[in-house]
Formats: sequence, C-alpha cells, structure tokens
Amino acid sequence: MADLCINLAGIKSPNPFWLASAPPTNSGYQVQRAFEAGWGGAVWKTLGEPIINTSSRFAAVSFNGQKVAGFNNIELITDRPLEVNLKEISETKKRFPNNTIVASLMVEPKQEKWHEIVKKVEAVGVDGLELNFGCPHGMAERGMGSASGQVPALVEKQTYWVKEVAKTPVIVKLTPNITDITATAEAAVKGGADAVSMINTINSLAGVDLDTWNTIPHVAGKGAHGGYCGPAVKPIALHMVGECARNPRINIPISGIGGISNWQNAVEFMLMGASGVQVCTAAMHHGFRIVEDMIDGLNNYLDEKGIASVMELVGKSVPKYSDWGNLDLNYSVVARINNEVCINCNKCHIACEDTSHQCIDMLKDEKGNSILKVREEDCVGCNLCAIVCPVDGAINMVEVPGELPPMTWNERQAALGALSSKIGIVKKS
Ligand SMILES: Cc1cc2nc3c(=O)[nH]c(=O)nc-3n(C[C@H](O)[C@H](O)[C@H](O)COP(=O)(O)O)c2cc1C
Repeated sequence: MADLCINLAGIKSPNPFWLASAPPTNSGYQVQRAFEAGWGGAVWKTLGEPIINTSSRFAAVSFNGQKVAGFNNIELITDRPLEVNLKEISETKKRFPNNTIVASLMVEPKQEKWHEIVKKVEAVGVDGLELNFGCPHGMAERGMGSASGQVPALVEKQTYWVKEVAKTPVIVKLTPNITDITATAEAAVKGGADAVSMINTINSLAGVDLDTWNTIPHVAGKGAHGGYCGPAVKPIALHMVGECARNPRINIPISGIGGISNWQNAVEFMLMGASGVQVCTAAMHHGFRIVEDMIDGLNNYLDEKGIASVMELVGKSVPKYSDWGNLDLNYSVVARINNEVCINCNKCHIACEDTSHQCIDMLKDEKGNSILKVREEDCVGCNLCAIVCPVDGAINMVEVPGELPPMTWNERQAALGALSSKIGIVKKS
C-alpha cells in the first residue's frame, strides 16, 4: 500500500483529503465524525464576527438529472461564538492528534485584529492557519473576504501582519473573482505566506423562479449574489491551480479546492500542482463517508502505477501545461468511427454538419446498412463528434503523422521575424 501522508508547507496529514472550511466543519461534533470516517484534515468553518444566520441560504443547480451539478450559497462565516469554537478545536485536536486542523480566519483588515485572533487560535493547538480572502458575499461588503482578496496590496499586507505573530504555517485562501489569480497569489508570497489555497466560491445567481419571479435562493423576496461551487467549477479551479503551479514566482505549496468529488478529481489537482485537496460540496451532497472511496481509489491507483508515495504525484502534469503559443501547430488528429460499435444515432453527423466541418458522411455498406464515415482529409480533429457520441469507443481520435515538422506559434513568429530582418522588411509603426 502506498504512503498517503502529505506535508503541505510543514502541515502534516495522514492523507490528502481535507474538508474545506464550510458547513461540514462547523463544530467539534462534525469534525470528529469526519475524522472517524477517514478525512485526513479539516479547515474549520471561518472564525470571526459578527454571527449572522441568513435564511434561506443555499441553492443547487441541477443539470440533466444530476442533482447538484453546481451549488450556490449566501451563508456567512461561523454562526457560533469564538470561545465555543476554540474549546471544540482544542477537544478535537486532543482526541485526534494525528489529524490536521487548520483554523480559517477572517477579520477586519487591521493589524491588531489579525494579531489577536492568530494568538487565540494558535493557543488551542491548531496545525495551521488559513486566511479567508475569498468569500464573495456578506463579509465582502464590509471590506473582508473577497473585497480584501481582490486587491493584491491588501492580501500582501494582511498576510504580513499574520506572519508577524504566527507560529504555525499560514495558508492564504484566494478568491477566483479576479481576472488573474496569480497576481494575488504572488501578493501572498510577498506577504510571507507558506502556502496558498484555491478556490473559494465564484460570484453567482443560481436562478430565477418562473412563477414568483423571485431569485433562487431569496430572503423575504429579495436576492443577492452568492458563491458558486461544486462539480461545475472544477475546470475553473483546476486552471487556477495550474496557472499558479507553473508560475516560478509562486514557489509555495498549493491546496487545491473546487468541485473535487472523487479520488480521480483529487489526483488531477495533485498532478496539476496541489499538495493536497479540500472538499466541501461533495461532502454536503453525499456525506462524510465518500472519503472511504476516495482513499481506496487513490491507494489502488498508486499501487497500480507502482508509486510509493502520493506526494510523488504533485506537479507531474505542470510541465505539460503552457501557453497556447507553445503548442505544436503541425500536430494533427482525426476522428475514426468504429462501425462495429457505432449505433448510427447520427449525433456525430448532426454536430459535425451543423456546427463543425461537415466531414462525416452518411453512407451505405455493401449490405445496404447505414454507416457513418469520416472524410479524414477534411477533419480538423476538433473532438466534437467524440464528445457528443453516446457510445464509448465508437469514435476514436487518432494521431496522424504530419507532413511538416513540429512548429509552435512562438517559433513561427520568431522564424518570420528573422526572415523579415534578413530580407530587409521593416515593420511600419
Ligand atoms: C455553504 C458554504 C459555506 C462556505 N463557507 C466558507 C467559509 O466559511 N470559509 C471559507 O473559506 N470558505 C467557505 N466556503 C467555500 C468552500 O470552502 C470551498 O472553497 C468551495 O465551496 C469550493 O469547494 P467545493 O466545490 O468542493 O464546494 C463555503 C462553501 C459553501 C458551499
């Protein structure tokens, strides 16, 4: 069996699966049950003030029969007094000394407020701190959460204040509600952060009720933007993790969050540079016991690959992630239909005919049966037919040898530039 232990900026955990700061980590009762179920760590529901309950507060976006494809909330931070949370953190740590407890914190952007809360939570034995610069609603209106997290200077300054007194590692949790997350990740590094975590929730409105015209959710007939998470946000989160992981100026570990629902998703985040993952929506949807499958699946995957430690996965896909300008423009794949498997539903033909390159022909074979065939010379290898095909293995995308040697856009532009100067073409400005 492989070693599932992780070390994220000095924070050790028996496995990479942590519960993210959210309703599942709201109390000692819950976190202790989560540890019993197998979760390696928990980021406690954000501590801070004031205590406010928004009712109602959740909405799910269902898609094609999947109940929680996306999840939206207008909840604030903890709904319990700091002293109660601190007592329960201390009890939980004593009962589960090998599991990881990270305290999520959010206070006003004032040095003394940060110093005060850091000292209080470290006194009860947390393994690390996570600064919540991410929540997009409620607290942001008061200069906290994403209102801080969208301004690199504020991220840097507040991280610095925390580092002035912190004895445990400091993770800065970033908001995705920003054009370029690497700007705030770099600010966290400058402030002295030991790690970054991403993503918090994305600004969203889950829907509008067609009968009442109320927003979903609504509070006494009024709505406000909420934070979106769950499976739908996974590609956005994975991209942000990848962008930070490949940025040499962000040379600190990453805790990956956003839509992680199973072990495969966790492996993807780790390959893209995360040293561990955090989960919220999947646990809210299916309960704590989903971690059993996550641990089993990860163990089997590592054993099958002959990998001794899960940490060996971290960042393995990062060198394969780059800018569009570095892609080989002469590489090509074409679609090939396996008529033994194809059920002739024609979805590929319709997709190609209506919205792609009109290169899937409807033909008859020698027995007069309908078959679909790709005119490979006209296929641009866009993948659309394989994406819409409902039958596994009916359409394969196959690499075809190119006539030209590999050349990226950047190489092409450099070659053209060299050629222009050689033949004396001067660009008009
Ligand atoms: C109802 C709800 C409450 C949340 N509260 C917090 C919070 O207090 N602090 C925090 O840092 N993130 C909070 N989050 C964000 C999650 O920690 C996590 O970043 C986000 O949900 C993305 O992960 P997921 O797709 O696995 O849900 C909350 C999320 C939800 C759904």
